Amino acid sequence: MALWEVCVIKKSSREIILELQSRRDKARLGGGKKRIDKQHSLGKLTARERIITLLDQESFEETDMFVVHRIRDFGMDGNTIPGDGVITGSGKVNGRLIYVYAQDFTVFGGSLSSDHAKKIVKIMKLAIQNMAPIVGLNDSGGARIQEGVESLGGYADVFLQNALASGVIPQISMIMGPCAGGAVYSPAMTDFTFMVKGTSYMFVTGPDVVKTVTSEEVTAEELGGAETHTTISSVADGAFNNDVEALTVLRKFITYIPSNNAESAPLRKTEDSRKRISLALDTIIPENPNLPYDMKELILSIADQYDFFELQENYAKNILIGFIRLDGQTIGVVANQPMVLAGCLDIDSSRKAARFVRFCDAFNIPILTLVDVPGFMPGTMQEYGGIIKHGAKLLFAYAEATTPKVTLITRKAYGGAYDVMSSKHLRGDANYAWPTAEIAVMGAKGAVEILFRNELDDPQKIEKRTLDYEERFANPFIAAERGFLDDVIIPNNSRFRLIQAFSKLKNKTQSNPKKKFGNIPL
Ligand code: HXC
Repeated sequence: MALWEVCVIKKSSREIILELQSRRDKARLGGGKKRIDKQHSLGKLTARERIITLLDQESFEETDMFVVHRIRDFGMDGNTIPGDGVITGSGKVNGRLIYVYAQDFTVFGGSLSSDHAKKIVKIMKLAIQNMAPIVGLNDSGGARIQEGVESLGGYADVFLQNALASGVIPQISMIMGPCAGGAVYSPAMTDFTFMVKGTSYMFVTGPDVVKTVTSEEVTAEELGGAETHTTISSVADGAFNNDVEALTVLRKFITYIPSNNAESAPLRKTEDSRKRISLALDTIIPENPNLPYDMKELILSIADQYDFFELQENYAKNILIGFIRLDGQTIGVVANQPMVLAGCLDIDSSRKAARFVRFCDAFNIPILTLVDVPGFMPGTMQEYGGIIKHGAKLLFAYAEATTPKVTLITRKAYGGAYDVMSSKHLRGDANYAWPTAEIAVMGAKGAVEILFRNELDDPQKIEKRTLDYEERFANPFIAAERGFLDDVIIPNNSRFRLIQAFSKLKNKTQSNPKKKFGNIPL
């Protein structure tokens, strides 16, 4: 080969590489400096910055960087930006593989074209195939208006993958900008949705349409901001002050969950002693059974390093849900909160807990249930709202769950709520109570008022009857005599007893009768 020929080949290779570089640079610039500056001026990171913040350093590998839309109408012919408004790929979070997509608001407002949707679908299929969690960072003006029905089809393709991935790999959505119209249904089908305060919103129809149809005047923030969805609608599981906080906490959240339905959550070694006792627990239950105490104190004192990752903190506060670790193992906690509505089960708390129980069960996360429940909330609001059906969700979820289930009754376990809260009868694996537990059909006062209605005009007699009833039933020992409890334990030793119970359940196998799926009362 002549020398000049080699030179030509060398030059042309360099050119090719330079072209690749320039194409990459163009893609990385997204919608351009002006739009990036605007994004920053709103306190938002760009899609790329978000991915880098979420993932371990230099672990991101991008796919489909050069994809462009094929829309020809409304001046879109030739108006393309590589990547088409969504960045997709994979990377690591604390060394574990995850798949991620981040919508890029600087490119056509992050709007979804059919090619944008194809990128998301591709990465979701890879996540399912390779059994790793998928995280979506949403920031989008919705369907690409210039495209029309094809983008609607694209949404449906994403929704289908959401349904197929459900129960196979964890799906997490972080809403970091607009998310409106049918676009909201992809996050809604994922396991967890988080939002950023002040810069994100989710609604099916925006304030203008609401005004036209219902004459209500409402701002976007009131209609679908983080406050609304974490306190009123329960669409979101948590909200954060800004993008960096959101992504940093998301990294922590991912450490609690397994990568797929065939694995356990990663163990995190702890210096916290298995045998650490908490003397404060011996006196946490007030002498007056009508006085509340903070169930969070109990959760914190038994958890490794006093760490509780609470979900839906500001919604249906009468029940607490979230993750702790016990001796390094992730545990899903469901706990009645006597500080709110006396810890009653109502529609909202039943729905909140039921969905969490199902997530834990789908992904082999053991469940700890802490019980102090005076029953289901009475009243027309609850009955008309369908408490029967919603309460049954929680009952169903616990009954079908085959993941390890450990229950600790601290005080009240009355009526149907006793059954529901992971009782022995629903295949609780280890059911414990503190000596302060009261397991009965109902509270002594209510019981006496029914049983001795004809003595109600004699307060002394009623008081004696109430004391008798309390004496007989307001303790854990009748349940323990029947084997409905496995043991009555000393409160200060609860951490150790719970760790032991869960460690014995590590190899638990249990299955339900063969079926396509159970018909949970939705
Ligand atoms: C194409 C869009 C777009 C969209 C925004 N842009 N939304 N392009 N399709 N859906 C573009 C804008 O033209 C603009 O382009 C850039 O993104 C930024 O938008 P701005 O309006 O300047 O930003 P901002 O003022 O922050 O307002 C954001 C917004 C607004 C509230 C999201 O853009 C908006 O209302 N967009 C339309 C929302 C919408 O109605 N979408 C369809 C919903 S129906 P330039 O070039 O100027 O930067 C739907 C059906 C889904 O989604 C059904 C699924 C089943």
